[in-house]
Amino acid sequence: MSTRGIIGRRIIHYDRVTSTNDLVREWAENGEPEGLVIAAEEQTAGRGRLGRQWIGPRGTSLQFSVLLRPPLAAAQTARLTPLAALALAATLREELGLRPGLKWPNDVLLNEKKCAGILVETSFEADRLSYAVLGVGLNVNYSMREFADLAPFATTLLDELGREVNRDALERAIIKSLDAHYARLLAGDDVFSEWRSQLTTLGRYVRVVTPNGIEEGLAEDIAPDGALVLRQEGRTLRLYAGDVTLARESTPRS
Ligand code: BTN
Repeated sequence: MSTRGIIGRRIIHYDRVTSTNDLVREWAENGEPEGLVIAAEEQTAGRGRLGRQWIGPRGTSLQFSVLLRPPLAAAQTARLTPLAALALAATLREELGLRPGLKWPNDVLLNEKKCAGILVETSFEADRLSYAVLGVGLNVNYSMREFADLAPFATTLLDELGREVNRDALERAIIKSLDAHYARLLAGDDVFSEWRSQLTTLGRYVRVVTPNGIEEGLAEDIAPDGALVLRQEGRTLRLYAGDVTLARESTPRS
């Protein structure tokens, strides 16, 4: 029996690209089978959620995208970001002895600061997913001290470990872990619930800066479609995008 997996069956490294998500999308549109990984030393137009810029100084971070074609209905695609977050966290734990946390909607944290983000972009045919591009950005061998505006919220592996990390080896380990987690998803394992149970802010009062304003409330749950369920006085909101921080420490009223 072959032990060859799906993710990483073809890996292409570029020096400089606009965004690895863009390149993978082009390959997908040209019929490339799933499993392709495109990585880059530098992105000139790396992007994050909510149209934000994603900065990874040249040659010092991991920035790559994966082409996936899982047999999922539209409502199930919210499982892909959790899959990647779990794979990243497992790799940081097992390869580097770190203790990562997970935060809705797409963050991996170290010491409560973001060290990695995930950007899933999808294309549908009717209600079926045609393909997904799963982009991963991980801050590795540079210091956040170079970015004063981000330093209060973000960190790097260098900052956390006090030493540089072999990026090639780490990339291989992440791809292997992504592949193992993807195999579990395809086998029907509930990776979504596993991710949800590990989220640092669930069950706590949070402040969410959304594209439409600021909301505060009890972070009650994550719905199967990926929405944060926020309980407020007299109403419950479902938020699909936003940045979460802890609002205040208190015991929720039932
Ligand atoms: C986020 O936290 O907002 C998501 C960040 C995702 C960044 C990665 S880097 C590789 C891939 N290419 C991109 O342009 N974005 C993703």
